[in-house]
Amino acid sequence: MPGEPARVLIAPSILAADFGRLAEEVRAAERAGAAMIHIDVMDGRFVPEITMGPVVVRGIRRATALPLDVHLMIAEPERHLTAFADAGATSIVVHAEASPHLYQAVQQIAALGLRPSVALNPATPIDQIEWVLPAVETVLVMTVEPGMGGQPFIPGMLPKIRALADAGRARGLRFGIAVDGGIGPQTAPAVVEAGATVLVAGTALFGAPDGIAAAMARLRDAARATGRPS
Ligand code: DX5
Ligand code: ZN
Repeated sequence: MPGEPARVLIAPSILAADFGRLAEEVRAAERAGAAMIHIDVMDGRFVPEITMGPVVVRGIRRATALPLDVHLMIAEPERHLTAFADAGATSIVVHAEASPHLYQAVQQIAALGLRPSVALNPATPIDQIEWVLPAVETVLVMTVEPGMGGQPFIPGMLPKIRALADAGRARGLRFGIAVDGGIGPQTAPAVVEAGATVLVAGTALFGAPDGIAAAMARLRDAARATGRPS
């Protein structure tokens, strides 16, 4: 319905989970009301760290019925799309900075039957994805420099989220806006107010001393404090 605020979804990032108990952690996130599981893939080239690949995605696929959102922080992502699709990804996020043929990468993801998403590093302007916007389900705005969890949120990304939401409205496009990095109860109200529809959070959820259920409730309440349903 026009003018109706979109529901805010929470996507726990397993980067902050205990990898020795990964299946349990994922199931706890599911019980706590996660909308999807966010999986951070790093290759030691696009970003300095190396994390996980399709084998781990396959394992997580067996542990949960939730959608799996695979965030590729890797060089030449086009070479690996089929492997992640076969492993059970639901959506694949490619970085605008990693793909010289971004439109084609997005089309490949859609052709595999998955939901395409593009990510922007903090320094990358939204103009760079102007012409792929009609082809994506979601734009992921990095609110920290990609590469590791636990970094502080960059407040300067709020106008970027707002500009993206405005651009979508002006063009009648319905893509979601995900925010990733430093998201927690303190930062959620501002990003939701700016137009974020998906909150990716690692440390604030898996790192919470009182457990992920309590942490999810806090994040949900904070997102709601803006007056938008979550
Ligand atoms: C960072 C990853 C994030 C990360 C967020 O490069 O893309 O998904 O897990 O972690 P927190 O929530 O700890 O900032
Ligand atoms: Zn991520």
